[in-house]
Parts: sequence; structure tokens; C-alpha cells
Amino acid sequence: MGCQYFAPCDHGSESFTIQIPKVTFGRGCLAEAGARAAAIGMSRVALFTDPFLQDGPYVKTVTQSLKAAGIDVAVFSEIRIEADDASVERGARFIAEGDFDGVVSVGGGSVMDTAKAAMLYALYPTDDFLDYFAPPLGAGKAMPGPLLPHLACPTTSGTGSECTSISVIRITELDTKFVIASPVMLANAALIDPACCDSLPGNVVASTGFDLLSHAIECYTAKAYTQWAKIEDPTKRPLIQGANPWSDLAARKALEIAGEYLVRGVNDASDQEARDQLMWGASLAGMAFGNSGTHLPHAMSYGVTHLMREITTKGYAVESPFIPHGISVVVSAPAIFRYAAEGAPERHLEAAGYLSADLRDAGNDDAGEVVARRLISLMKQTAMPNGLNDLGFTAADVKALAASSIRQGRAIANAPRETNLQDMENIYTAALSYA
Ligand SMILES: [Fe+2]
Repeated sequence: MGCQYFAPCDHGSESFTIQIPKVTFGRGCLAEAGARAAAIGMSRVALFTDPFLQDGPYVKTVTQSLKAAGIDVAVFSEIRIEADDASVERGARFIAEGDFDGVVSVGGGSVMDTAKAAMLYALYPTDDFLDYFAPPLGAGKAMPGPLLPHLACPTTSGTGSECTSISVIRITELDTKFVIASPVMLANAALIDPACCDSLPGNVVASTGFDLLSHAIECYTAKAYTQWAKIEDPTKRPLIQGANPWSDLAARKALEIAGEYLVRGVNDASDQEARDQLMWGASLAGMAFGNSGTHLPHAMSYGVTHLMREITTKGYAVESPFIPHGISVVVSAPAIFRYAAEGAPERHLEAAGYLSADLRDAGNDDAGEVVARRLISLMKQTAMPNGLNDLGFTAADVKALAASSIRQGRAIANAPRETNLQDMENIYTAALSYA
């Protein structure tokens, strides 16, 4: 079935490209930071983290390890929980003024994404901050050269940013998040220590866990790479290149992990096996979507975070309004898969199976419904919002949500079924609440 999905197409791509950093995974591996940083040539590093982690045990372990290896460390922690342009500009100034030969990031997606973007603007400043962002918002300018060596240490089990060449940044003036992506933004090495998740509250494990789940299912159900047009210049092959045998491999395992361990890891902080597995699943899903691209659930999350109202989310020390990324992604996902499954029903059934859904008597016509039911069940078991209504949106917001998200052109085109503005409005309407 897999081979059939990647059957050659006229004028379609015949190749795909994989890029991942050197990955180290295991409890206690943060203590390897010094040796790893020295091995990639660092002698004076900017350590990026956030104000909540700055005085905590993970930053301490990493700092001690770096110093023990003879490496100078200067800490930068002025990073918002939702990485924004102001954080990036502050970080870029810090790097530009500090004479560093490497960056170590310790934190969640916001910290790692800020570190990537700050290096870019420190090394290659532009007149217009949007120059490096993808069109239509940005100019899609190519990165002029490599960034500094980067050792990424994730402290949450969702984003997978330690394994991707993507940085997502909120542009405050436009009140919206957008993506910078380039192979040069990939970290050189990642230290993935699941002990970092031991003390995370259940609701954080839930929102990050749905981010990882969604990365995986979007990779697995994305349009096949052979359906994308052939690229003239192979060095310009986009990260959003479609599902491929590599992303399948990592996404399948990440889906199995989410199906088996998400509810356990959310509802029992002492379930170390579940939390370790979710950390591994998040990195696997990052290795998958960083080499295939996501599609509608991520594309349609942008409208949700763009237009969110006075939402406060418990357990996050952050200004309102705020909706955690994983929630903004999964809230529309059941309605999306009910729509999109028609484009690749077998793949959707397989994905539901990896998520431990009951597939008895399920045929191709049921594929979207089977995925949606399984997602809704997982959302209910982890106390997620039951649709956009629970986030403060109503039917009156549907047109604006679709108009905002439709700008995510290539991600929308990576979906297994063609999707226009009207389709997106219909999907948002169906996502207001779930029976
Ligand atoms: Fe994500």
C-alpha cells in the first residue's frame, strides 16, 4: 500500500531529501552538553532559555557541563512563551554583541525557535524583519549562509523543533504567527533528555502531546512527494515536500506512541514510561514533519491563534490571550480529517490503526469518521476543549478564521484533498463543537 501511495506521477518529483541533526536521547543526557558542544567547535556560547527555566535544574546541568568542558557561557532568557519578533530582535542583538561561536538552547519550541531566528538576524541583518519569512507575508529571501553551530535541548515533548529547520515566530504588529524555514536553521546536534518532562503539569503534556500527534498524522496523511512538481534546482527542494518513505517510518512510530501513552502521560505525572515515550515520539514526529511538512491542522491553527480573544489558559504564566499551540492545532483536527480523508482513505485508516482505533468493519468510506472519533476520544480523556466554541469562537468568526489561515498556501496544498476558502469555512463550522 505504501509503495502504491508513492507511485510515480507525470512531472512529479522522483526524489526526496532527508535532513536531521545528530540526536542523543536518554535520561541524564543533558550532562553531555559540554562534550557535545566542544565536539562541534564551541568555545564561547550564548545559552538561550526562558525566564521560568533560567534558575532551574536543566539550565544548571547544561551550564555546569559546558563550563567543565572549558566553554564560556552567557545566558539569554528574555524570551516570551510564544516566540515573537521582539524576543528574536533582543536575542539577535545579544548574539551580535557577544562574540559567540555557538548557541545552546534549553527550553520548549519558543526557546529553540527564537535561538534559530536570532542567529539568522544577528549574522545576516535585514532592513525588513519579514524578508526571510515565507510568502505571502514575507519575501521568502534565501539565507545568505550558515548560522552558528547549535546544540538544542528540548524540555517539552511536542514541538520537535530540535529536529527541524523551522522557526515559528509571532509578528506582533500583524498579530499573527508565521514560519521561517531553511536547511541552514537545522541544529547541529540535539540532546533529548526525557527527565525534563518529569515535572510538567498534565495540561502542558496534553497540549504538547497533541502537537506531536498532529505532526505525525499530518505527515502520514500528507500528499505523496511524487504528487508535488519536480524541482529544477535540487538544493531548493522545499521542506514541505510531501509524505515519503522516511516520514512514514517516523510518523508511524510516533502515532503508535501517542495512541498508547498520551492519556497515561497526561493523567499520571509519575508514569515515567509514558512520559519518556512521549518525548521520543515528539522527536520522531519532528524528524518526520521536518522532512515532509504538515498540512491542514497546522495551517488552520494559524487563524485560531491570530483571532483568539480573551482566552486565559490555566497553568501557563503568560499574558492573555493565549492558546497553547497543540490546542490550536488539534481543536479543528477532527473536522479536518472528516473532510480530508476522502483524498487518501487507506492512509487515514492506517493512521487510525496506529493510534489504536477500533477498525473492525471500517471501510474506506468510514476513514474520516474513524480518525475523527479516535481524536475526539483522546481529547475527551485529556480534558481538551471540545471544539472552537470552548475557545470563545462562534459561527460569526468562521469567515475571518478561514481568511487568515488560507495564507498558509504550501501547507494547505500538502493536504491529501484540495481545499479552498469555502471548504475551510465549512471545516471551521464543523469544528465549533463535537458531539
Ligand atoms: Fe506543531
